[in-house]
Amino acid sequence: MATVGMETRRATPNDSDQVWPLVRDFAASYEPLPGAFEQSFLDLIGRPDTLVLVAEETAETAETVSRIVGYLLANVHGTFFANGPVAWVEEVMVDKSARGRGVGRDLMEAAEAWARAVPAAYVALASRRAGDFYRALGYEDSATYFRKTFVPPRA
Ligand SMILES: CC(C)(COP(=O)(O)OP(=O)(O)OC[C@H]1O[C@@H](n2cnc3c(N)ncnc32)[C@H](O)[C@@H]1OP(=O)(O)O)[C@@H](O)C(=O)NCCC(=O)NCCS
Repeated sequence: MATVGMETRRATPNDSDQVWPLVRDFAASYEPLPGAFEQSFLDLIGRPDTLVLVAEETAETAETVSRIVGYLLANVHGTFFANGPVAWVEEVMVDKSARGRGVGRDLMEAAEAWARAVPAAYVALASRRAGDFYRALGYEDSATYFRKTFVPPRA
């Protein structure tokens, strides 16, 4: 019988093929393009101010098979008001088949550990779709989110 395990780890260049479909499914307002994704992925995984995590499911059979079922993208930037850096989670996505098993929580907790180590004053994010997920993880509603688009979102 196969033993299924889950590991949350930093992304490597070899992960891009498996992260790409998750990015495509995550995007609601823009349509990610494969070439732009590949370039951003390689750039972002190499940046010290950026964290790219993947959640990998491993099934230990005769031949070990592994599958990336989630990813998270976060970054830190400096501020005056918080006396130093703050962290923002930009994207978190768990494949439909793996939801409700703590994968999203593991990704967020790993991002929080990274942000604390920076050290960032807090971790924040904007979310329209997943408020209850973040509330379950101890996040509180804060400022309203405003944006002005330079590239039109898809209709
Ligand atoms: C939101 C998302 C990342 C959650 O991932 P997940 O792996 O299913 O979440 P977990 O299993 O780790 O759940 C952690 C906690 O959040 C709660 N939770 C998760 N999704 C929830 C939802 N849609 N509504 C209410 N609570 C939710 C769980 O009940 C759990 O609470 P508990 O630990 O107290 O039982 C996943 O549903 C997803 O990828 N959605 C599509 C993309 C998206 O909306 N991303 C966030 C946009 S910023």
